Amino acid sequence: MGDYIDLHCHWVAGIDDGAKTTADSIDMLRALVDVGFSRVVATPHMRAGMFDNDRAMLEAAYARTVEVVSEAEGMPTLGLASEHHLDDVVFGQLIAGRGLPYPPAGRAVLIEFPNERFPLKHRERMFELRMKKMRPVLAHPERYRPVWKDIGVLDPLLDGGTVLLLDVAALVGKYGRAAKRCAHELLEEGYYYAACSDAHRASDAKEVAKGIARLYKLVGDEEADFLLREGPGRICEGRVED
Ligand SMILES: [Fe+2]
Repeated sequence: MGDYIDLHCHWVAGIDDGAKTTADSIDMLRALVDVGFSRVVATPHMRAGMFDNDRAMLEAAYARTVEVVSEAEGMPTLGLASEHHLDDVVFGQLIAGRGLPYPPAGRAVLIEFPNERFPLKHRERMFELRMKKMRPVLAHPERYRPVWKDIGVLDPLLDGGTVLLLDVAALVGKYGRAAKRCAHELLEEGYYYAACSDAHRASDAKEVAKGIARLYKLVGDEEADFLLREGPGRICEGRVED
């Protein structure tokens, strides 16, 4: 247990629906360290009309938060990326090279769909990102209504090089019964490449811990270790193999 890499977490202060203050950031990061994460990449939202953040705003907020967080004891290794909602505005920024890919390699980007339906032209857009040498990492597929009906809707995306990121807390019902059932099915069918916390506050770490325990029980040590360490490590280093 331990040494996990979290690719999805909202610990940057005052920029989205995650940490409000740097004290919240420190509490959240400490709670995630306790759960076993040694590296936690911040992924604040970029979403048109809801979180109108651009790269410069996120970089500035990250720098302000890190200035305080780095003085605290027992912090994990930190990094900055973003959760990019696949709308016209954010997609345009991504294609123009103004998104925030995963450090250090900068070869993969976290993408979020709306929960109710897949966005128009999502396949083409995910493919375009691949063409730009940015591998799409799809956030919480278990929360998307079209996937509840048929996990096969993800197949064309996987064929196009997208990898899937599990919110571990979905396994213990944090997002409801349909998402829980869907997460189990995707896990069983080997759809996921990595698992994350998607924590928004320190108290989320409780369900994350339960989710990780459940993950180990469901798939065993080797697969769970891959999803929490090797998979996310490869995404950061840009060495995901097709
Ligand atoms: Fe998120």
